[in-house]
Amino acid sequence: MLVEAEVEEPVAGPGDVLIEVAAAGVNRADVLQREGHYPSPPGSPAWPGLEVSGTVLEAPELSGFAVGDAVCALLGGGGYAERVAVPAGQVLPVPVGIDLVDAAGLPEVVATVWSNVFLLADLRAGETLLVHGGSSGIGTMAVQLGRVFGARVAVTARSSSKLEACAELGADILIDYTVDDFVERIRAEAGGADVILDVVGGDYLSRNVRALAVNGRIANIASRGGTSSLDLNALMMKRGTIRSTSLRARPADEKAAIVASVRENVWPVIENGAVHPVIGARFPFAEAAAAHELMESSSHIGKILLEV
Ligand SMILES: NC(=O)c1ccc[n+]([C@@H]2O[C@H](COP(=O)([O-])OP(=O)(O)OC[C@H]3O[C@@H](n4cnc5c(N)ncnc54)[C@H](OP(=O)(O)O)[C@@H]3O)[C@@H](O)[C@H]2O)c1
Repeated sequence: MLVEAEVEEPVAGPGDVLIEVAAAGVNRADVLQREGHYPSPPGSPAWPGLEVSGTVLEAPELSGFAVGDAVCALLGGGGYAERVAVPAGQVLPVPVGIDLVDAAGLPEVVATVWSNVFLLADLRAGETLLVHGGSSGIGTMAVQLGRVFGARVAVTARSSSKLEACAELGADILIDYTVDDFVERIRAEAGGADVILDVVGGDYLSRNVRALAVNGRIANIASRGGTSSLDLNALMMKRGTIRSTSLRARPADEKAAIVASVRENVWPVIENGAVHPVIGARFPFAEAAAAHELMESSSHIGKILLEV
């Protein structure tokens, strides 16, 4: 159940920015947290919310932020609230040209895609990127960043309307996984994928290895499909690499390094209009339960936001 409650006023510790929240992004992790499977990490508020946008109420000296600035931030939790305190290293200015509420849909997806697809899997221009769940919040950002940085982008999704949305964002190999085998399609149309962003896990691990090009890299960020088994020989023959990470669990200094890299490399392509947050729905905070129901239905495209 999601119920409104009074909680203690957050207190900004040394190095923290205190934010008056305008909107919070809804993430799959929030659904897992609501179900009791994924509590906030130590040091973060117990209530959900991995990203917000809003206005600075307090900022440490030399943090680069000042009272009244429009910002968005990556959190360990606590974003479903009117106020939140967060280390300054996890705060970003709202990109020029982006609406304050829409900016709540940026920090988690951009940091996740940038850190996994670019920093860990090292996607290069001219390579092929396969994005599973291309129409998800994560997927819509991965498709755009892949295209903007010169990759050929393939996606999987379960309907033609979701695939059309991916095509508009720049995907050019569109795979309805309810109809086609993605392994066959990506091998036939691209000779395999150089990088695969996997939001499924389970039996996708072995299928992803078969879908890889030689020297390919798998960036796994979720395990929704049960236990995975791996044919090590098949991976060896591909000279393949598998990385699996959880952004939320990473320590503050690693999050700060990712956020700094995002600001340097991704903020410019948002500010020049090449990449934008894809917002599927906005709900008032009081309707957070309906927002979660929409996410669980998987009928949305892009991000779901809660507005204070
Ligand atoms: N590890 C990390 O640091 C990290 C960070 C952020 C997010 N994540 C994970 O990334 C995933 C996406 O997050 P989100 O917030 O963007 O959620 P979301 O918008 O709800 O996306 C979930 C997506 O999974 C897709 N999907 C489910 N089963 C699939 C299958 N068998 N084949 C292909 N696609 C499938 C759905 O697409 P269809 O409807 O087309 O099936 C949907 O688009 C979630 O699993 C989340 O937990 C991980």
